[in-house]
Amino acid sequence: MAALLLGAVLLAVQPQMAPARPAGNPRTDDGPSASVQKELLRKTSLRDDAHPNGASQQLPQTIIIGVRKGGTRALLEMLSLHPAIAAAESEVHFFDWEDHYGNGLQWYARQMPFSYPHQLTVEKTPAYFTSSKVPARVYNMNRSIRLLLILRDPSERVLSDYTQVFYNHMQKRKPYPAVEEFLIKDGQLNVDYKAINRSLYYFHMQNWLRYFPLEHIHIVDGDRLIRDPFPEIEKVERFLKLSPQINASNFYFNKTKGFYCLRDSGRDRCLHESKGRAHPQVDPKLLNKLHEYFHEPNKKFFELVGRTFDWH
Ligand code: A3P
Repeated sequence: MAALLLGAVLLAVQPQMAPARPAGNPRTDDGPSASVQKELLRKTSLRDDAHPNGASQQLPQTIIIGVRKGGTRALLEMLSLHPAIAAAESEVHFFDWEDHYGNGLQWYARQMPFSYPHQLTVEKTPAYFTSSKVPARVYNMNRSIRLLLILRDPSERVLSDYTQVFYNHMQKRKPYPAVEEFLIKDGQLNVDYKAINRSLYYFHMQNWLRYFPLEHIHIVDGDRLIRDPFPEIEKVERFLKLSPQINASNFYFNKTKGFYCLRDSGRDRCLHESKGRAHPQVDPKLLNKLHEYFHEPNKKFFELVGRTFDWH
């Protein structure tokens, strides 16, 4: 019996390199039931490497899947105020980078922080949301996982995306073209620009909904998280079935930064200076083209998720 169980656990920690199921209702798929799968996943924590105080490295029970520049770091930091959250510090890129995925689930668990049994482990890799192979891989690891997705106005996200790459080049003292050079091609909006594609939330969300029911994906309104973070974080606490522990007093507006910062046990801290940068000024006509381009996909996205957002 023990040998059988060990075999099952070993099987469970091997990543399945090919998607185990095509499109369709995940709940009709064969395989271990959610409770058995949960038990197997629980057992894949690295008990051998466990701390004497009972902490161990667990596979994440929730993942912030994106979107890049949506406010993923702010969400992770804010959620980490909760004592029952153990967050991986850096982006793991397990499901989207082949060399990482090939290392298997044991390796993935080893990238996680040590946590206690009552805690939820969370990692964030914003690139997951827009990588088409990732939903199946996450599903193969844990079909009942709770996913967090933070979105913001798609046009604003494009400018934020550009700004990030611009600064990356500046830091390496490499020149980088003006934003218009990416946004316009032959006098038209350049819809091949990757940053525009990443803002097509409808397109990417469809991939996730082939594997996960909508109830398992909580969408955080990134624009609201900027303006007033506490109500958004309260919703996340509820989604993750965490006791309400984060308070409005954990947030204060920092006028110099122009964003909310965190207050935890009397310690104040803002996000890194790379978060909350000024975006380039764009010709209003071009900006309007961008808004128009996103109008239809946004509408479809609202229908898909049964919710509207205050986007241009
Ligand atoms: P900008 O720097 O373009 O303003 P991500 O962490 O996914 O890369 O997202 C970065 C974005 O988080 C920032 O984009 C910023 O607008 C947003 N953000 C949300 N809340 C923030 C906060 N409290 N402090 C700083 N940035 C925040």
